[in-house]
Amino acid sequence: MMPETPVLGLSCWYHDAAAALVSGGRVIAAAQEERFDRRKGSPGFPIHAIDYCLREAGISAADLAAVAFYEKPYAKLERILLSHLRAWPRSCSTFVDTVSACLGDRLILPLVLQRELGFSGEVAFLRHHQSHAASAFFASPFDEAAVLTIDGVGEWATTTMGTGRGADLSFLEELHFPDSLGLLYTAVTTWLGFEALHGEGKVMALADFGEPSFLESFHEMVAVRDDGSLAVDPSWFPFLEGGRMYGPRFVKAFGPAREPGSEITDLHRDMAASLQRFLEEAILQMVRRLHEITGLRRLCLAGGVGLNITATSRIPDETPFSELFIQPAAGDAGGALGSALQVWHAITGAQRCWSMDHARLGPAFGRPAMERALRLAGLRPKTLEGEDLLQQTAERVARGLVVGWFQGRMEFGPRALGSRSILADPRNPRMMDILNERVKHREPFRPYGVSVLEEALPECFEPSRPSPFMLQVARPLPSVRERIPAVVHANGTTRLQSLNAAVDGIYYDLVRCFGDLTGLPMVLNTSFNDRNEPIVCSPEDAVRCYVGTEMDALVMGPFLVEKNAS
Ligand SMILES: [Fe+2]
Repeated sequence: MMPETPVLGLSCWYHDAAAALVSGGRVIAAAQEERFDRRKGSPGFPIHAIDYCLREAGISAADLAAVAFYEKPYAKLERILLSHLRAWPRSCSTFVDTVSACLGDRLILPLVLQRELGFSGEVAFLRHHQSHAASAFFASPFDEAAVLTIDGVGEWATTTMGTGRGADLSFLEELHFPDSLGLLYTAVTTWLGFEALHGEGKVMALADFGEPSFLESFHEMVAVRDDGSLAVDPSWFPFLEGGRMYGPRFVKAFGPAREPGSEITDLHRDMAASLQRFLEEAILQMVRRLHEITGLRRLCLAGGVGLNITATSRIPDETPFSELFIQPAAGDAGGALGSALQVWHAITGAQRCWSMDHARLGPAFGRPAMERALRLAGLRPKTLEGEDLLQQTAERVARGLVVGWFQGRMEFGPRALGSRSILADPRNPRMMDILNERVKHREPFRPYGVSVLEEALPECFEPSRPSPFMLQVARPLPSVRERIPAVVHANGTTRLQSLNAAVDGIYYDLVRCFGDLTGLPMVLNTSFNDRNEPIVCSPEDAVRCYVGTEMDALVMGPFLVEKNAS
């Protein structure tokens, strides 16, 4: 066996397929398939992401010590069959669709790996929540921590509580299907007229505009016990009947679901706010329970619900956990990274030597590829180097231009963190509308985040904890609030990413430069994509998005192009 013992982790066949490669105890590469096949949330076998990971590591599939899969397909099938049988005959309408979605390639992964990659070595299947837990703890900087995973559902588990010590994870308590915070959130998301698995972030944003006037009703629908466990009332949410997310009782109480794209009323805003408040209270209860059974003060978190940053931002101030690490790819894509790390430690028995201090685990592209993409689109770039590139970019952002920023390796996970970002001036009170109308074409209630120099946090935000993955909301201090109208949300908070000089390289330098120019060391940062499109990956994707929207300028590597340069 090679000393580095390369392990490939995979998550696929549900949504947001991904691959990750661990070698020598480090994540060498990780990427979501959607970035390559350009289908948002692409669920299929992630052949492009796998090819990229192997290429980045400089190995072939034959060199792999093992492939790790992020869940146990037969256990998942068992859950789906049993829950349908228990609800028979009410479940017969969804039986064929739901069960057939669980058949196929997922049950014959070793054969698929042989067919697609020529790989015939060891394949390890991990529990879905073990993959989530490993993605959080093994990527964290902590030697010892409590570990919480919360999502819709894996095989049976919907929530797990445990601990991580060194290279070991252990599980203490768990909740099982159908008692699920993630499924509850997704159910109400679909009733609110947003897409399951994609619309949850929109509901979190919409919640800022409503009042939690239905909170009592949510407590009727789902009981939250003192020990953090839940009991979902099936008369409101018949999850066991497969396919149906909310029942007739829910519709009788709150009316029919909102048609996608139709008007959003106070009822919808208040339902979003009530759901959000309920989720926050339930998570805090779970976190307090986890402290009770572990006595620890550091917490690692993963699972799709971990991306609800309005909820998780309350943890350090309202529970005994003073330090928090959330896996930035907290959803199922992160399961690829977690399962690969877990299996690497199981095979080698070696101690940890890596933590995830940035998300730049995807592909980078050289100057020739960038130049070719620009010239093929008929664009004639200026070439700028060093400080000149930073100055000219910062000056354009400060002038109110919307700038596409494409540098280095692509981020892993749902957030753009300065490698594939669109940047703008947070001081401009019209910038939200400009971005929505001209570039992003998204719902007007969705807020934008901001990237701030880490050392400027204490004089700008409360709390001022570092937030390298844009997984923290904070309140701008009064002296700053008036100056950054484009990134202050309806409830007076801002979603922020902190930038570290030693970690964030050219992006840190650019924001420093913008600070020197304007006296404000922060820029508005949103993902480099148009509506319903995955974040750009290649120079061709970036050029297509630049040309297809009303973005003002594109800075890609050392190249600058702009529209209306006069
Ligand atoms: Fe999950």
